[in-house]
Amino acid sequence: MPSDQPQSSDQPQPSDQSHNQPFGDLAILTSGGDSPGMNACIRALVRSGIYYGHRVWGVIRGYDGLIQDEFRPMDLRSVGNIIHRGGTILKSARSEEFRTAEGRRKAYENLIKRNITALVVVGGDGSFRGANVFAEEYPVSVMGLPGTIDNDLYGTDYTIGFDTATNTVVECIDKIRDTADAHNRLFFIEVMGRDAGYIALNGGIAAGCEEILIPETKTDLNALIEVLKKGRANHKSSGLIIVAEGDEEGGAYEIARKVAKQFNGYEMKVTILGHIQRGGSPSYFDRVLASRLGIAAIEGLRQGQSKVMAGIINNKIVYTPIYEAVKNSTQMDLDLYRISKILAI
Ligand code: F6P
Repeated sequence: MPSDQPQSSDQPQPSDQSHNQPFGDLAILTSGGDSPGMNACIRALVRSGIYYGHRVWGVIRGYDGLIQDEFRPMDLRSVGNIIHRGGTILKSARSEEFRTAEGRRKAYENLIKRNITALVVVGGDGSFRGANVFAEEYPVSVMGLPGTIDNDLYGTDYTIGFDTATNTVVECIDKIRDTADAHNRLFFIEVMGRDAGYIALNGGIAAGCEEILIPETKTDLNALIEVLKKGRANHKSSGLIIVAEGDEEGGAYEIARKVAKQFNGYEMKVTILGHIQRGGSPSYFDRVLASRLGIAAIEGLRQGQSKVMAGIINNKIVYTPIYEAVKNSTQMDLDLYRISKILAI
Protein backbone atom coordinates (compact mmCIF):
# COMPACT_ATOMS: atom_id res chain seq x y z
CA MET A 1 0.00 0.00 0.00
CA PRO A 2 1.21 3.54 -0.67
CA SER A 3 2.42 5.70 2.19
CA ASP A 4 1.19 9.04 0.84
CA GLN A 5 -2.26 10.57 1.19
CA PRO A 6 -5.17 8.75 -0.36
CA GLN A 7 -5.91 9.77 -3.90
CA SER A 8 -9.05 11.56 -4.80
CA SER A 9 -7.82 13.57 -7.79
CA ASP A 10 -6.63 12.33 -11.19
CA GLN A 11 -8.98 9.39 -10.78
CA PRO A 12 -11.95 8.54 -13.00
CA GLN A 13 -14.80 10.89 -12.18
CA PRO A 14 -18.35 9.73 -11.58
CA SER A 15 -20.61 9.90 -14.56
CA ASP A 16 -23.50 10.90 -12.28
CA GLN A 17 -22.47 14.05 -10.40
CA SER A 18 -25.99 14.77 -9.26
CA HIS A 19 -25.87 12.62 -6.09
CA ASN A 20 -26.07 14.21 -2.68
CA GLN A 21 -22.74 14.04 -0.98
CA PRO A 22 -23.51 13.93 2.74
CA PHE A 23 -20.14 12.43 3.62
CA GLY A 24 -16.59 13.28 2.68
CA ASP A 25 -13.83 10.88 3.56
CA LEU A 26 -14.41 7.26 4.27
CA ALA A 27 -12.83 4.45 6.29
CA ILE A 28 -13.36 0.75 5.71
CA LEU A 29 -12.58 -2.20 7.93
CA THR A 30 -13.11 -5.95 8.05
CA SER A 31 -14.10 -7.43 11.37
CA GLY A 32 -14.85 -10.77 13.04
CA GLY A 33 -14.28 -14.06 11.25
CA ASP A 34 -12.85 -13.46 7.78
CA SER A 35 -14.74 -14.76 4.76
CA PRO A 36 -13.77 -15.42 1.14
CA GLY A 37 -14.77 -12.37 -0.91
CA MET A 38 -13.79 -9.77 1.67
CA ASN A 39 -10.93 -8.67 -0.59
CA ALA A 40 -13.25 -8.34 -3.58
CA CYS A 41 -15.45 -6.21 -1.35
CA ILE A 42 -12.55 -3.98 -0.23
CA ARG A 43 -11.62 -3.53 -3.90
CA ALA A 44 -15.17 -2.48 -4.79
CA LEU A 45 -15.37 -0.07 -1.85
CA VAL A 46 -12.05 1.57 -2.65
CA ARG A 47 -12.68 1.84 -6.36
CA SER A 48 -16.24 3.11 -6.10
CA GLY A 49 -15.31 5.47 -3.26
CA ILE A 50 -12.58 6.99 -5.43
CA TYR A 51 -14.85 6.94 -8.48
CA TYR A 52 -17.30 9.14 -6.61
CA GLY A 53 -14.54 11.47 -5.46
CA HIS A 54 -14.00 10.41 -1.84
CA ARG A 55 -10.75 9.79 -0.05
CA VAL A 56 -10.68 6.21 1.22
CA TRP A 57 -8.77 4.87 4.23
CA GLY A 58 -8.31 1.24 5.13
CA VAL A 59 -8.25 0.34 8.82
CA ILE A 60 -6.00 -2.57 9.77
CA ARG A 61 -7.30 -5.30 12.16
CA GLY A 62 -10.88 -4.15 12.45
CA TYR A 63 -12.03 -2.11 15.44
CA ASP A 64 -8.69 -2.68 17.20
CA GLY A 65 -6.98 -0.80 14.37
CA LEU A 66 -9.57 1.95 14.61
CA ILE A 67 -8.68 2.38 18.28
CA GLN A 68 -4.89 1.94 17.82
CA ASP A 69 -4.86 4.40 14.89
CA GLU A 70 -3.79 1.89 12.22
CA PHE A 71 -5.04 3.65 9.11
CA ARG A 72 -3.69 3.22 5.56
CA PRO A 73 -4.53 5.47 2.65
CA MET A 74 -6.02 3.43 -0.17
CA ASP A 75 -5.60 4.21 -3.83
CA LEU A 76 -6.72 2.41 -6.95
CA ARG A 77 -3.57 0.28 -7.16
CA SER A 78 -3.69 -0.71 -3.47
CA VAL A 79 -6.53 -3.06 -4.31
CA GLY A 80 -5.05 -4.46 -7.52
CA ASN A 81 -4.59 -8.22 -7.80
CA ILE A 82 -6.73 -9.09 -4.77
CA ILE A 83 -10.14 -9.97 -6.22
CA HIS A 84 -9.25 -13.64 -6.30
CA ARG A 85 -7.63 -13.88 -2.87
CA GLY A 86 -9.19 -15.26 0.31
CA GLY A 87 -8.62 -13.66 3.71
CA THR A 88 -8.55 -9.88 3.95
CA ILE A 89 -5.71 -7.51 3.11
CA LEU A 90 -6.96 -5.27 5.93
CA LYS A 91 -6.70 -8.15 8.44
CA SER A 92 -9.48 -8.90 10.86
CA ALA A 93 -9.93 -9.13 14.61
CA ARG A 94 -12.53 -9.43 17.31
CA SER A 95 -12.07 -6.37 19.53
CA GLU A 96 -12.78 -6.37 23.25
CA GLU A 97 -11.78 -2.72 23.62
CA PHE A 98 -14.41 -1.51 21.16
CA ARG A 99 -17.02 -2.84 23.59
CA THR A 100 -15.96 -0.10 26.02
CA ALA A 101 -17.05 3.56 25.80
CA GLU A 102 -13.40 4.61 26.13
CA GLY A 103 -12.39 2.41 23.17
CA ARG A 104 -15.12 3.88 20.99
CA ARG A 105 -14.13 7.42 22.01
CA LYS A 106 -10.54 6.76 20.84
CA ALA A 107 -11.88 5.30 17.61
CA TYR A 108 -13.97 8.41 16.96
CA GLU A 109 -11.03 10.72 17.65
CA ASN A 110 -8.92 8.83 15.11
CA LEU A 111 -11.61 9.20 12.49
CA ILE A 112 -12.33 12.84 13.12
CA LYS A 113 -8.69 13.96 13.08
CA ARG A 114 -8.64 12.78 9.45
CA ASN A 115 -12.05 14.31 8.65
CA ILE A 116 -13.47 10.85 8.11
CA THR A 117 -17.23 10.98 8.48
CA ALA A 118 -18.27 7.56 7.19
CA LEU A 119 -17.30 4.05 8.20
CA VAL A 120 -17.99 0.82 6.33
CA VAL A 121 -17.83 -2.36 8.40
CA VAL A 122 -17.59 -5.67 6.55
CA GLY A 123 -18.39 -8.41 9.05
CA GLY A 124 -20.99 -10.47 10.85
CA ASP A 125 -23.47 -9.96 13.63
CA GLY A 126 -20.98 -9.17 16.41
CA SER A 127 -19.28 -6.54 14.26
CA PHE A 128 -22.63 -5.01 13.40
CA ARG A 129 -23.72 -4.67 17.00
CA GLY A 130 -20.55 -2.64 17.68
CA ALA A 131 -21.14 -0.55 14.57
CA ASN A 132 -24.66 0.30 15.65
CA VAL A 133 -23.62 1.40 19.14
CA PHE A 134 -20.87 3.54 17.63
CA ALA A 135 -23.27 5.25 15.21
CA GLU A 136 -25.70 5.93 18.08
CA GLU A 137 -22.95 7.64 20.07
CA TYR A 138 -21.08 9.63 17.42
CA PRO A 139 -21.94 11.62 14.28
CA VAL A 140 -20.47 9.09 11.86
CA SER A 141 -22.41 7.51 8.99
CA VAL A 142 -22.09 3.77 9.36
CA MET A 143 -22.75 1.15 6.69
CA GLY A 144 -22.58 -2.60 7.30
CA LEU A 145 -21.78 -5.19 4.65
CA PRO A 146 -22.52 -8.87 5.36
CA GLY A 147 -19.14 -10.60 5.44
CA THR A 148 -19.43 -13.98 7.12
CA ILE A 149 -19.51 -17.56 5.92
CA ASP A 150 -22.41 -18.30 8.26
CA ASN A 151 -25.15 -16.61 6.14
CA ASP A 152 -26.96 -15.74 9.36
CA LEU A 153 -27.88 -12.10 8.77
CA TYR A 154 -31.40 -10.92 8.15
CA GLY A 155 -31.72 -8.52 5.21
CA THR A 156 -29.74 -10.41 2.60
CA ASP A 157 -30.28 -13.69 0.82
CA TYR A 158 -26.55 -14.38 0.88
CA THR A 159 -23.59 -13.17 2.90
CA ILE A 160 -20.17 -12.72 1.33
CA GLY A 161 -18.24 -15.98 1.71
CA PHE A 162 -21.14 -18.35 2.28
CA ASP A 163 -21.11 -19.67 -1.28
CA THR A 164 -17.36 -20.33 -1.29
CA ALA A 165 -17.41 -21.96 2.14
CA THR A 166 -20.28 -24.21 1.17
CA ASN A 167 -18.52 -25.21 -2.04
CA THR A 168 -15.44 -26.06 0.03
CA VAL A 169 -17.59 -28.24 2.28
CA VAL A 170 -19.12 -30.06 -0.70
CA GLU A 171 -15.71 -30.66 -2.24
CA CYS A 172 -14.43 -32.12 1.03
CA ILE A 173 -17.48 -34.31 1.60
CA ASP A 174 -17.24 -35.68 -1.95
CA LYS A 175 -13.77 -36.88 -1.02
CA ILE A 176 -14.93 -38.32 2.28
CA ARG A 177 -17.70 -40.14 0.41
CA ASP A 178 -15.13 -42.05 -1.65
CA THR A 179 -13.30 -43.38 1.37
CA ALA A 180 -16.50 -43.92 3.39
CA ASP A 181 -17.80 -46.13 0.60
CA ALA A 182 -14.51 -47.98 0.18
CA HIS A 183 -14.54 -49.03 3.85
CA ASN A 184 -18.28 -49.24 4.59
CA ARG A 185 -18.00 -46.55 7.22
CA LEU A 186 -20.32 -43.99 8.73
CA PHE A 187 -18.87 -40.48 8.88
CA PHE A 188 -19.94 -37.61 11.09
CA ILE A 189 -18.70 -34.43 9.45
CA GLU A 190 -18.71 -31.22 11.45
CA VAL A 191 -18.97 -27.89 9.66
CA MET A 192 -18.92 -24.31 10.90
CA GLY A 193 -21.98 -22.50 12.11
CA ARG A 194 -21.80 -21.69 15.79
CA ASP A 195 -25.39 -20.51 15.84
CA ALA A 196 -26.58 -21.23 12.33
CA GLY A 197 -27.00 -24.27 10.12
CA TYR A 198 -26.96 -22.74 6.64
CA ILE A 199 -23.64 -24.29 5.64
CA ALA A 200 -24.69 -27.68 6.99
CA LEU A 201 -28.11 -27.59 5.36
CA ASN A 202 -27.00 -26.47 1.91
CA GLY A 203 -23.71 -28.37 1.96
CA GLY A 204 -25.49 -31.48 3.24
CA ILE A 205 -28.05 -31.46 0.43
CA ALA A 206 -25.43 -30.77 -2.23
CA ALA A 207 -23.18 -33.56 -0.97
CA GLY A 208 -26.04 -36.04 -0.55
CA CYS A 209 -25.73 -36.53 3.20
CA GLU A 210 -28.08 -39.00 4.88
CA GLU A 211 -28.80 -36.69 7.82
CA ILE A 212 -28.34 -32.99 8.49
CA LEU A 213 -28.12 -31.80 12.10
CA ILE A 214 -28.56 -28.06 12.60
CA PRO A 215 -29.28 -25.71 15.51
CA GLU A 216 -32.53 -24.48 13.93
CA THR A 217 -34.26 -27.86 14.30
CA LYS A 218 -34.68 -30.30 17.13
CA THR A 219 -32.12 -33.10 16.95
CA ASP A 220 -33.69 -36.44 17.81
CA LEU A 221 -30.89 -38.96 18.20
CA ASN A 222 -33.30 -41.89 18.56
CA ALA A 223 -34.88 -41.02 15.23
CA LEU A 224 -31.40 -40.70 13.71
CA ILE A 225 -30.48 -44.17 14.96
CA GLU A 226 -33.71 -45.59 13.49
CA VAL A 227 -32.84 -44.05 10.10
CA LEU A 228 -29.36 -45.57 10.27
CA LYS A 229 -30.72 -49.00 11.17
CA LYS A 230 -33.21 -48.83 8.32
CA GLY A 231 -30.47 -47.80 5.92
CA ARG A 232 -28.30 -50.68 7.07
CA ALA A 233 -31.20 -53.11 6.64
CA ASN A 234 -31.68 -51.70 3.12
CA HIS A 235 -28.03 -52.51 2.33
CA LYS A 236 -26.64 -49.00 2.58
CA SER A 237 -22.94 -49.69 2.77
CA SER A 238 -21.83 -46.34 4.17
CA GLY A 239 -23.24 -43.08 5.40
CA LEU A 240 -22.55 -39.37 5.76
CA ILE A 241 -24.01 -37.22 8.50
CA ILE A 242 -23.30 -33.50 8.48
CA VAL A 243 -23.37 -31.67 11.81
CA ALA A 244 -23.38 -27.90 12.31
CA GLU A 245 -21.00 -27.13 15.16
CA GLY A 246 -23.83 -25.37 17.02
CA ASP A 247 -26.16 -28.37 17.13
CA GLU A 248 -27.95 -28.82 20.45
CA GLU A 249 -26.67 -32.41 20.86
CA GLY A 250 -23.04 -31.24 20.60
CA GLY A 251 -20.35 -31.39 17.96
CA ALA A 252 -19.65 -34.34 15.66
CA TYR A 253 -17.47 -36.20 18.20
CA GLU A 254 -20.09 -36.01 20.90
CA ILE A 255 -22.93 -37.06 18.62
CA ALA A 256 -20.89 -39.95 17.18
CA ARG A 257 -20.16 -41.12 20.73
CA LYS A 258 -23.85 -41.00 21.69
CA VAL A 259 -24.90 -42.86 18.53
CA ALA A 260 -22.19 -45.51 18.94
CA LYS A 261 -23.63 -46.44 22.35
CA GLN A 262 -26.86 -47.63 20.71
CA PHE A 263 -25.91 -48.65 17.19
CA ASN A 264 -22.93 -50.50 15.84
CA GLY A 265 -24.01 -51.22 12.27
CA TYR A 266 -21.03 -49.34 10.86
CA GLU A 267 -17.52 -48.45 11.84
CA MET A 268 -17.77 -44.75 12.70
CA LYS A 269 -15.40 -41.90 11.89
CA VAL A 270 -15.45 -38.17 12.60
CA THR A 271 -14.08 -35.36 10.46
CA ILE A 272 -14.03 -31.72 11.60
CA LEU A 273 -13.63 -29.50 8.56
CA GLY A 274 -12.74 -26.44 10.67
CA HIS A 275 -11.07 -23.31 9.31
CA ILE A 276 -10.44 -24.79 5.88
CA GLN A 277 -13.99 -23.50 5.27
CA ARG A 278 -12.93 -19.90 5.81
CA GLY A 279 -10.03 -19.77 3.39
CA GLY A 280 -9.49 -20.10 -0.31
CA SER A 281 -10.18 -18.23 -3.47
CA PRO A 282 -13.74 -16.82 -3.53
CA SER A 283 -16.24 -18.31 -5.96
CA TYR A 284 -17.49 -16.25 -8.90
CA PHE A 285 -20.73 -15.79 -6.94
CA ASP A 286 -18.99 -14.29 -3.90
CA ARG A 287 -16.84 -12.02 -6.08
CA VAL A 288 -19.89 -10.60 -7.85
CA LEU A 289 -21.87 -10.31 -4.61
CA ALA A 290 -18.97 -8.55 -2.88
CA SER A 291 -18.51 -6.19 -5.83
CA ARG A 292 -22.19 -5.27 -5.97
CA LEU A 293 -22.43 -4.75 -2.22
CA GLY A 294 -19.24 -2.66 -2.09
CA ILE A 295 -20.69 -0.24 -4.63
CA ALA A 296 -24.11 -0.33 -2.93
CA ALA A 297 -22.42 0.73 0.32
CA ILE A 298 -20.86 3.82 -1.21
CA GLU A 299 -23.99 4.74 -3.15
CA GLY A 300 -26.15 4.20 -0.06
CA LEU A 301 -23.93 6.46 2.05
CA ARG A 302 -24.09 9.10 -0.66
CA GLN A 303 -27.87 8.93 -0.51
CA GLY A 304 -27.71 9.60 3.23
CA GLN A 305 -28.17 6.03 4.48
CA SER A 306 -26.62 5.22 7.85
CA LYS A 307 -26.90 2.49 10.49
CA VAL A 308 -27.99 0.09 7.76
CA MET A 309 -26.61 -3.04 6.15
CA ALA A 310 -26.59 -3.31 2.37
CA GLY A 311 -27.77 -6.72 1.24
CA ILE A 312 -29.26 -8.45 -1.76
CA ILE A 313 -32.80 -9.82 -1.68
CA ASN A 314 -34.31 -11.36 -4.82
CA ASN A 315 -31.31 -10.00 -6.72
CA LYS A 316 -32.04 -6.38 -5.72
CA ILE A 317 -30.00 -4.18 -3.39
CA VAL A 318 -31.81 -3.63 -0.09
CA TYR A 319 -30.78 -1.55 2.95
CA THR A 320 -31.85 -2.99 6.30
CA PRO A 321 -31.38 -1.30 9.69
CA ILE A 322 -28.37 -2.91 11.32
CA TYR A 323 -30.29 -3.74 14.49
CA GLU A 324 -32.67 -5.84 12.39
CA ALA A 325 -29.89 -7.53 10.44
CA VAL A 326 -28.21 -9.15 13.42
CA LYS A 327 -28.89 -12.78 13.85
CA ASN A 328 -31.70 -12.71 16.40
CA SER A 329 -34.08 -11.73 13.63
CA THR A 330 -32.90 -14.45 11.22
CA GLN A 331 -35.41 -17.10 10.32
CA MET A 332 -34.23 -20.00 8.26
CA ASP A 333 -36.59 -21.19 5.55
CA LEU A 334 -36.87 -24.83 6.53
CA ASP A 335 -38.21 -26.04 3.20
CA LEU A 336 -34.69 -27.13 2.31
CA TYR A 337 -34.65 -29.24 5.45
CA ARG A 338 -37.90 -30.94 4.36
CA ILE A 339 -36.33 -31.62 0.97
CA SER A 340 -33.26 -33.17 2.55
CA LYS A 341 -35.48 -35.68 4.37
CA ILE A 342 -37.14 -36.77 1.13
CA LEU A 343 -33.81 -37.15 -0.64
CA ALA A 344 -32.28 -39.23 2.14
CA ILE A 345 -35.00 -41.90 2.03
O1 F6P B 1 -17.05 -16.85 10.75
C1 F6P B 1 -18.03 -17.38 11.61
C2 F6P B 1 -17.51 -18.61 12.19
O2 F6P B 1 -17.09 -19.32 11.12
C3 F6P B 1 -18.40 -19.50 13.04
O3 F6P B 1 -19.23 -20.36 12.33
C4 F6P B 1 -17.40 -20.20 13.88
O4 F6P B 1 -17.91 -20.73 15.03
C5 F6P B 1 -16.43 -19.13 14.17
O5 F6P B 1 -16.43 -18.30 13.02
C6 F6P B 1 -15.05 -19.57 14.53
O6 F6P B 1 -14.17 -18.51 14.34
P1 F6P B 1 -12.82 -18.23 15.13
O7 F6P B 1 -12.12 -19.50 15.21
O8 F6P B 1 -12.14 -17.21 14.32
O9 F6P B 1 -13.24 -17.73 16.48
